[in-house]
Amino acid sequence: MAGEGGVARHVAIIMDGNGRWAKARHLPRAIGHQRGVEAVRRLVRALGETSIECLTLYAFSTENWRRPDEEVGDLMNLMRRFVKSDLPEFIANDVKLHILGDWRGLAPDIVEMLEDALSRTAGGARTLAVALNYGSQQEIARAATAAAAEGEITVESIERHLDSAGLPPLDLLIRTSGELRLSNFLLWQSAYAEMIFTDVLWPDFTPEHLTDALAEFTRRERRYGGR
Ligand code: IPE
Ligand code: IPE
Ligand code: MG
Repeated sequence: MAGEGGVARHVAIIMDGNGRWAKARHLPRAIGHQRGVEAVRRLVRALGETSIECLTLYAFSTENWRRPDEEVGDLMNLMRRFVKSDLPEFIANDVKLHILGDWRGLAPDIVEMLEDALSRTAGGARTLAVALNYGSQQEIARAATAAAAEGEITVESIERHLDSAGLPPLDLLIRTSGELRLSNFLLWQSAYAEMIFTDVLWPDFTPEHLTDALAEFTRRERRYGGR
């Protein structure tokens, strides 16, 4: 399976740096998160012009509950507003929503809204996968438990039970804001993913940055342990 070139079908992004973006402008963190949502919107709109079949976005981690209640509340409200305002556009643009993480543990009105969005976008051709209340270690533990209940624990049986089951293999993982860590995101799926770390803060991330990352990806040589 060695080879270079090729296009990225599945790209995942750790959208980081909203707080620092706001701080640099002496604005409240909530404004940084709002501008972060706008960056998501720009990217989803541009998806049709890329090779990407699935874009996975890290929106809220299981560890993000450790933030002050006010910030968690702001993030949840932004999520509500985003789903409500952008759902018609997803449907019009053939975007199918997929969710990773323990999203059923979110507030009941959000769960209901997401269930509705999942069913109304089910026919979409390109996937927007959103990691919500997501922790990769927890995902792997859940998948291993489910696999064990069915029989043997193997790489394949675990994969069948991951939240990412059915999505294309992860090709490229991008993290913004200069942090060089995975923060409990797609640990299993990243086994052979290419990684790009950029100093750009998430609210400043544009479709052009994504195009640059995709071009960089095509220049990488993937060897999968072979030669
Ligand atoms: C990313 O931005 C958004 C979420 C984690 C929800 P941050 O809020 O982590 O921004 P920084 O890292 O503090 O700049
Ligand atoms: C990762 O960013 C989570 C999301 C982008 C949703 P964090 O800002 O929470 O990660 P750490 O705390 O810097 O590792
Ligand atoms: Mg951060």
